[in-house]
Amino acid sequence: MRSSPLVSRIAVSLLPAFFLPTNAQSVPGGAYYPGNGAPAAGAYKLIDDYNPAIFFNKFVFYNDYDPTYGHVQYVNKQTAQQNGYATVSNGNKSALISVDTTNKWPNGGPGRPAVRLISDNTYTHGLFILDVAHMPTGCGTWPAYWLLGPNWPYTGEFDIIEGTATFETSNCDTSVNGNSGCGSLLNGSLIANNYGAGLNSNGGGVYATEWTSNFVKTWFFPRGTVPASITNGAPDVTTFGTPTVNQQGPGCKIDDHFTNMSIIINTDFCGAWAGNVYRNFPDCPQDPSAPSSIDACVNFVGNNPSYFTQAYWEINSIKVYQMPLGAQPTSSYSTNKLVNIFHVLIYWTVDLEVFFDNRLGTDSCYNPSHLPRVE
Ligand SMILES: *[C@@H]1O[C@H](CO)[C@@H](O)[C@H](O)[C@H]1NC(C)=O
Ligand SMILES: *[C@@H]1O[C@H](CO)[C@@H](O)[C@H](O)[C@H]1NC(C)=O
Ligand SMILES: *[C@@H]1O[C@H](CO)[C@@H](O)[C@H](O)[C@H]1NC(C)=O
Repeated sequence: MRSSPLVSRIAVSLLPAFFLPTNAQSVPGGAYYPGNGAPAAGAYKLIDDYNPAIFFNKFVFYNDYDPTYGHVQYVNKQTAQQNGYATVSNGNKSALISVDTTNKWPNGGPGRPAVRLISDNTYTHGLFILDVAHMPTGCGTWPAYWLLGPNWPYTGEFDIIEGTATFETSNCDTSVNGNSGCGSLLNGSLIANNYGAGLNSNGGGVYATEWTSNFVKTWFFPRGTVPASITNGAPDVTTFGTPTVNQQGPGCKIDDHFTNMSIIINTDFCGAWAGNVYRNFPDCPQDPSAPSSIDACVNFVGNNPSYFTQAYWEINSIKVYQMPLGAQPTSSYSTNKLVNIFHVLIYWTVDLEVFFDNRLGTDSCYNPSHLPRVE
């Protein structure tokens, strides 16, 4: 799929993070796909296919330090493959991304080995369809599937799936829907099984993120409810219903802030978010002698390798569709006609969000119900 082979897979020393103003990824040889940004400018066409047989050839294995201070060592491709952290299931049905479940990595030393994948190819606009069968769960885990532009935050970040299992167990279990994962809210009602153990027990599902010049929307479809047009490989967004996330607005100049994004999939432990909130979750093993929440998290993550057998991604596919450049819009677009402007209903768990960074200007893309960030 790449237009040319990678010249070198240089790990950029400072990678963008959820919170840190660091530099961008840049992958020599990666292809750039600029799609049409006009909503409904023709049918979506498949332009990039992360199917399991070639999945791990399409990413850089980032192996520098974690910009979010996690108790993690992101390993290179060779180490990941030798240790079975990056494997393909029988028959090339799915790609599996896991972590070290055999060794102790005590507090004060290196963190638990895991994987952070950054796509070689970059995109502007498109419909990104993730079919996920399993995602990492467990106390102290901090998995994410996201899109990121170069030179953070100037070219944007969309966090599509992000959370900590601690949130999932302590919140969804007790206050929302008992036994399933947790949820973002769709027009006041919970879409069950969109994250964590609930997602996994339901066989996963499909996340579809549509990025045009006018909006960024994300839909989640639990397994069993995936629209036929997606299954058939000809996704028709007009049949998807109300999105779970819908970021837009007259003052939201999406094309000024989002471009050339890579797909990132990673599993972190503790760190700036999951570590800082760890103490809030009594369901997770707490070391009362630990001097801080992060230390309590690191003590648990470091000392309990076999606990992390569920901290894996199983991905059936990621497919990127775009509307061809040059195509004429087939329908006019008006923000007035669309509902849910900035209406991202984030449950206490951040299992699904789009992050619009508005520190760069006056555009009002920021979602007011965004979970406060741990800075
Ligand atoms: C899986 O994909 C690899 C790489 O393309 C290929 O060599 C292998 O034959 C495939 N295996 C099956 C069972 O399809
Ligand atoms: C949201 O739900 C309400 C009540 O069920 C319904 O009247 C409304 O049409 C829904 N809005 C959208 C955008 O689906
Ligand atoms: C996006 O990628 C294109 C093609 O590689 C490049 O010309 C352009 O400068 C990039 N834009 C940014 C903001 O990095």
